[in-house]
Amino acid sequence: MTLEIVANAGSVPWLESFSIGHDRLDHEHRRLIDSFNDFCAFAATTPRPTRLRENAHALIATVEAHFASEEAIFPLIGYRHRLSHMREHLDVGNRLHSLLLNDTGLEPAAAGAAGRLVFVEHILRHDLEVKTWVLHAAGL
Ligand SMILES: [Fe+2]
Ligand SMILES: [Fe+2]
Repeated sequence: MTLEIVANAGSVPWLESFSIGHDRLDHEHRRLIDSFNDFCAFAATTPRPTRLRENAHALIATVEAHFASEEAIFPLIGYRHRLSHMREHLDVGNRLHSLLLNDTGLEPAAAGAAGRLVFVEHILRHDLEVKTWVLHAAGL
């Protein structure tokens, strides 16, 4: 249901169900969903492919910085699926490169929406799993 909303909506709102209970990481997730929304809106209106590529590079760099920030938390909370989660991060990065920087045949806004779906899907399928360790480490 949530993924249907993400795949279809023009703009994806932050939902409480995305929260993994870690303030900084939730803030980064929220900001990145906003950035994907902004990218999609920009892609739908800009006639300038060079500007779009610059924005795509910046967005991917921000996603990769977030992954490094998230991975730094893993040992602090005793998270036991670090390596498989890090492999998922690599996969998301590769998929974003393919969607946003390669010629996929998609309209730029559709490619942005597909990239946003990849990112939100990762939060739902993998980052939410981390919540158990976040809460445990906080003594909750
Ligand atoms: Fe993650
Ligand atoms: Fe994340």
